[in-house]
Amino acid sequence: MFVIVGRDPDRSYSILLCLGEIFGLLSIILVGLLFDRRVSSDVYNWKTNPFSYHPLMMTIGLLFCYGNAILLYRTFKQIPKLMVKIFHACFLIISLTLGTFGLAAIIRSKIITNRPHFMTFHSWIGIATIGLFVFQWICGFISYLFPKLSLDIRKGYMPTHRLWGKIIFLFSVASILTGLSEHGMTSSFFTMNDIQQSRRLIIIFFGIFTSLFSLIVIYLLSNSDYQRPPDQTDEKSVPNP
Ligand code: HEM
Repeated sequence: MFVIVGRDPDRSYSILLCLGEIFGLLSIILVGLLFDRRVSSDVYNWKTNPFSYHPLMMTIGLLFCYGNAILLYRTFKQIPKLMVKIFHACFLIISLTLGTFGLAAIIRSKIITNRPHFMTFHSWIGIATIGLFVFQWICGFISYLFPKLSLDIRKGYMPTHRLWGKIIFLFSVASILTGLSEHGMTSSFFTMNDIQQSRRLIIIFFGIFTSLFSLIVIYLLSNSDYQRPPDQTDEKSVPNP
């Protein structure tokens, strides 16, 4: 990663972002294949197999859309900040809608198979991720969009908002990685027939691409060279995310 990062921050940002998007899209394709009829006898079906939608919705919503939402201020440096704020809020609403659908899928799956709720580390970290996500969205919306709090409060809250944005992203990644390990175990991960071997490979590469996507997002967020410069409006005193 560090070899690609040359002297021109805009160029290296674009290269790393493209690479990250490729890894993110590969994660989505692989997780989408988990319930494809070529590798699984349990296919996508909301009535009989609602679980099938859980990993897919969570990956699109809380990994890919959320990862991109937190990069938007850096990705669209040339676009006016208010527009980017609105995009940021919209991307996050899409993430949350997909996350809620993914949560409804696993809850329905547990209800119809008569299994108890919230019995694993994955389920606890997963519900914490969704709770923190909702809380952060509400605080961000009230502070920066509507009714929009005073400049002092916005300025004071920004470092906390940025820090928690990254923490929640890491929680999402941890939820995905623990979820896929759990699913791997509950779906005869180590049996030697062909169908399970394909699924095993899909799960392993899904984990690898998810990790690579997350590493790139965190790297792009942590490097101050990629930060959006202050705007020439009254927003200039609030540090940019
Ligand atoms: C950000 C991503 C994710 C979040 C927030 C999340 C959240 C949750 C929650 C809250 C539950 C518990 C529901 C209940 O007990 O009623 C759960 C269960 C489950 N999830 Fe996820 N999940 C995520 C990703 C994944 C992924 C990617 C997989 C598999 C590839 C997965 C597999 C499972 C499995 C097998 C269960 C049932 C066992 C258990 O309760 O731990 N999850 N998830």
